[in-house]
Amino acid sequence: MHRLAFARAGEDPPIEVTLLARLRDDPAWLPHLSLVAIVDGEPAGHVVATRARVNDAPALGLGPVGVRPERQRAGIGTILVHALVAVAETHGETLVGLLGDPRYYRRFGFTAATHVGIEPPDPEWGPFFQVRSLVAEAIPGGRFRYAPPFDWLG
Ligand SMILES: CC(C)(COP(=O)(O)OP(=O)(O)OC[C@H]1O[C@@H](n2cnc3c(N)ncnc32)[C@H](O)[C@@H]1OP(=O)(O)O)[C@@H](O)C(=O)NCCC(=O)NCCS
Repeated sequence: MHRLAFARAGEDPPIEVTLLARLRDDPAWLPHLSLVAIVDGEPAGHVVATRARVNDAPALGLGPVGVRPERQRAGIGTILVHALVAVAETHGETLVGLLGDPRYYRRFGFTAATHVGIEPPDPEWGPFFQVRSLVAEAIPGGRFRYAPPFDWLG
């Protein structure tokens, strides 16, 4: 699914496929936060969040999220992200961070991490690194760190 969703010229498999394989083998993998959308009996999309940290506090890093090209723009990605946030809340998680297009993730309540005192893993990501709090109280600030397999992305 991610091979199709992230297909780019000259790159096979896309780095997201390799990242996903590495995440699966890492202690940061959280099986209950790997969600597959099934449409007409076939897998149509997938989202995952893995254990991340803000300083020493546990957080979640969302991604990759992908929908099969022929199923895109039909609301599946929206449902997957909403579902992931709901499951994360149910499990007492406090914060989700991600790197992505703010025009897409704004609708889920994500905001630029720097607006709430959280430093992106890479300062150059600026407004593209976003967070969503899952709790009512203020979240302690600090540096966001993804699970170790993300470091391999460079
Ligand atoms: C991004 C992705 C997961 C969204 O899933 P989807 O099922 O196509 O999205 P939905 O149908 O739920 O939502 C469609 C809306 O998202 C918007 N959208 C989709 N991708 C977007 C993007 N990269 N940037 C901005 N907006 C985007 C569409 O314009 C549409 O907006 P509208 O509701 O205002 O018309 C999917 O398009 C995909 O797999 N893309 C390729 C892989 C990828 O880029 N993943 C995200 C990496 S952060």
